[in-house]
Amino acid sequence: MYIPMLKLLSTVRHYASRNATALKLNYVCNYGKQKCPGNIKQQSLFLHKELPVRLAQRAVELENLPYSVSSTPSIQNVYDLYLKSFDKITSHPEPNSTEESNSFTELISNIKIEHKDLELDISNALEPYREKHGNKSISKDEIIIIDKTLEHFYSSRIGIRFLIGQHVDVQKDSLSETTVGVIDIKCDPHKVIKHAVEDVKMIVDNVFYKDLEIELDLAKSDYEFLYIPSHLYYIVFEVLKNAGRATAEFNDCTKPIKIQTSVSKNDFIIKISDNGGGFSREVLENIFSFSFTTANENHENRGIKIAGYGHGLGLSRIYARYFGGDMTVSPVEGVGTDVYIYLNRFGDKSENVADERT
Ligand SMILES: Nc1ncnc2c1ncn2[C@@H]1O[C@H](COP(=O)(O)OP(=O)(O)OP(=O)(O)O)[C@@H](O)[C@H]1O
Ligand SMILES: [Mg+2]
Repeated sequence: MYIPMLKLLSTVRHYASRNATALKLNYVCNYGKQKCPGNIKQQSLFLHKELPVRLAQRAVELENLPYSVSSTPSIQNVYDLYLKSFDKITSHPEPNSTEESNSFTELISNIKIEHKDLELDISNALEPYREKHGNKSISKDEIIIIDKTLEHFYSSRIGIRFLIGQHVDVQKDSLSETTVGVIDIKCDPHKVIKHAVEDVKMIVDNVFYKDLEIELDLAKSDYEFLYIPSHLYYIVFEVLKNAGRATAEFNDCTKPIKIQTSVSKNDFIIKISDNGGGFSREVLENIFSFSFTTANENHENRGIKIAGYGHGLGLSRIYARYFGGDMTVSPVEGVGTDVYIYLNRFGDKSENVADERT
C-alpha cells in the first residue's frame, strides 16, 4: 500500500473517533434565513469540520461488513468514494475568506452529485444475499451486522445530503417565499401526499395495467408545518408503492387504499391502509432488512420498477426517524397492512446522526 494511502487511512480513523454534531431542523432553518456572507462563511467552516467526521465514521464502519459484501466491487466503490470525498474536503483550505467559502461550496456540491446513486450500488452488493435468503444459507448474525451498518450508513447519508443541500440551496434564490434551502417552513403535507398518490397510480398502471384507487381522508386540509418536502415524499411514495403492489396482486385493485392523516400534540400522522393480503409475523421480522424483498422481474415494466431493491421500508423508516419521527407496520395476514408514519411537527428534534456515542 502506498504511504499516502496509509496516511489517509490513519487520518480517517482519527476523524472517525470524533463525535458528530447533531443539529435540529428548526435551528438549521433559522440559520439559513439569515443569508449574510458572514453566516454562509460560518456554515462553510462548520461543514469543513463536520462532514469529514461523518464520512470517516461511515467509511470505517463499512469495513465491518461481512467480507463477502465488503469485497464486492459495488461496496468497494462506495468505500473509495467516501475516502476520496474525505480527502478532498480535508485537503481544501479552511474556508476563512469568501472566495474559499465559495470554492468549498462548489466542492461539496459536486460531492453530493458524485454520491447520488449509492443506494443502487449497495442494493447490487446485496443481490447474492437476497437469493440465499430463502434457503437460509446466510447466517442471521451476518444479516444483523449488514442491516445495522447500513442503517447507520443511510441515516448518516441523509444528514450529509441534507446539510450540503441546505448550504448550497440557501445561497441560491429561494424556490418560494416559504422555502429556506431544502426546508419548507410551511410544508403542505397533503400536497406532497397527493403528488405521491399520482406517481404511484401511474406506476401501478404501467406495471400491472390496473387502475389503483386511493381514498384520502385528510385532517385539516390547510395544515402546514416545518419539514423537508422531499423526505415526506420519499416516505409516502415508498409505502404507497408497496401498498399498490399488494393491492394489484391480491385483489386486482378492486379495493381502494386508504390514506388518513391526523395532527396530534407532537406529530403529523399518516396512516396508509391496504387490503393487499398483509403478510405473516415471520415476514414482519424481515421487512426492514435491506436484503429482503419478495419482488421479481414481474415487478418492472418498460424500465419502471414498483419493487425489488429491498430498500423501500428500511429507508422510509430512517427518513421518518431522522428528525424524531417514526414508522410502524402492522400486517393482518390474509387481509391487509396498515402503515403508520409519525413526523415531528416542530422541527425541534436533533438529527439522528448514527453516532453510537451520542
Ligand atoms: N403493504 C404491503 N403488503 C404486503 N407486503 C408488503 C407490504 N409492504 C411491504 N411488503 C413486503 O415487504 C417487502 C419489503 O418491502 P420494501 O419496500 O422494503 O422492498 P421492496 O418493495 O421489495 O423493494 P423496493 O426497495 O424497490 O421498495 C416487500 O418485498 C413485500 O414482500
Ligand atoms: Mg417497496
